[in-house]
Amino acid sequence: MNRIIARTAGTGSKALARAYSARPLSAGESKREGTGAARSKVTIHTIKKLYSDGKPIAMMTAYDYPTAVACERAGVDVVLVGDSLAMVALGHDDTSQVTLDEMMHHSRAVARGTRSAFMVSDLPFGTYHADEAAAVTSAIRMVKEGRAEAVKLEAGRRAAARIDAIVHGAGIPVMGHIGLTPQTAVALGGFRVQGKSVSSAQALLDDALALHAQALLDDALALQSAGCFSLVLEAMPSLVAETITRLLGIPTIGIGAGRRTSGQVLVYSDMMGIFDRFTPKFCRRFAEVGSTMDEALGEYKEAVRGRMFPEEGTHTYAMSPAAEESWRTHVQRNYGLELADPSAGREAGRAAAAATAVAPE
Ligand code: KIV
Repeated sequence: MNRIIARTAGTGSKALARAYSARPLSAGESKREGTGAARSKVTIHTIKKLYSDGKPIAMMTAYDYPTAVACERAGVDVVLVGDSLAMVALGHDDTSQVTLDEMMHHSRAVARGTRSAFMVSDLPFGTYHADEAAAVTSAIRMVKEGRAEAVKLEAGRRAAARIDAIVHGAGIPVMGHIGLTPQTAVALGGFRVQGKSVSSAQALLDDALALHAQALLDDALALQSAGCFSLVLEAMPSLVAETITRLLGIPTIGIGAGRRTSGQVLVYSDMMGIFDRFTPKFCRRFAEVGSTMDEALGEYKEAVRGRMFPEEGTHTYAMSPAAEESWRTHVQRNYGLELADPSAGREAGRAAAAATAVAPE
């Protein structure tokens, strides 16, 4: 940073500091208009109403403030701070390594950009498994410190008592998650579709898989009884997801579970085409933001190298002609420097920069 600006900003001048702020608008506001701008707060009741009216619920993951603001603008109903952030935002190989503190850090950022959407945050692996007390403590932290309105747990019927403790003991809404549960992908044999039938010749295997589909249904019913307000159904045959959806009295949110769930969710980085390590079969890429980012960064780098950026007058701050003249004279007298005309062409700029590339003080 230019030393003069740095010094002035360092004096605590609020006006100047705000001029440099990346966030001059208040939380959740944006210069861009969106459909979500004026809507009222989405609550558990709104979700129930969408469900009972048969209107599909749109849920999207978000890991930071700008994504939350974008979801808000789009009018997304539920924003999920998914622990998929471990992979798509933090670069881990799986979701098991992300900590509760890291999840809360991202959750708070999302909360700052979320005004009307309902906000759910994942409890990460290992934070609700030990016992009911651990589950309640983690859920309370996620609400108090992470600013979530509800928590999501990847768990089947064995977690019913812990879910019951969170919902009825602490009064925190819980969204369940069954099917492909990435936190326990190792036990499931990797990131694979769950409850799927295969060749009819493999009767034994079919039976086993039918049992698996039944197990998913049993899990779903148990989680509903434990008090979940909604369930994520991930990577399972559409028929199994439809069965679960029709037999439950709470909304199901599908991801790789077909159209007949009560709503859908996708991982933001997957559907935007940002995360390119793999794209799950069930993901539709609604945009190719990754290639747009690559192009923009490449252009930026070339513009910097070629001194095409910043453009004088467009991206720069000017002095009044009188101040400029007196500054030139001052610098010439005291330091022997002839300053270039800021608006002179690229070559002049290059030469001036080369001439002024002196060793730091
Ligand atoms: O972590 C996550 O993003 C999720 C979604 C895939 C539902 O749990």
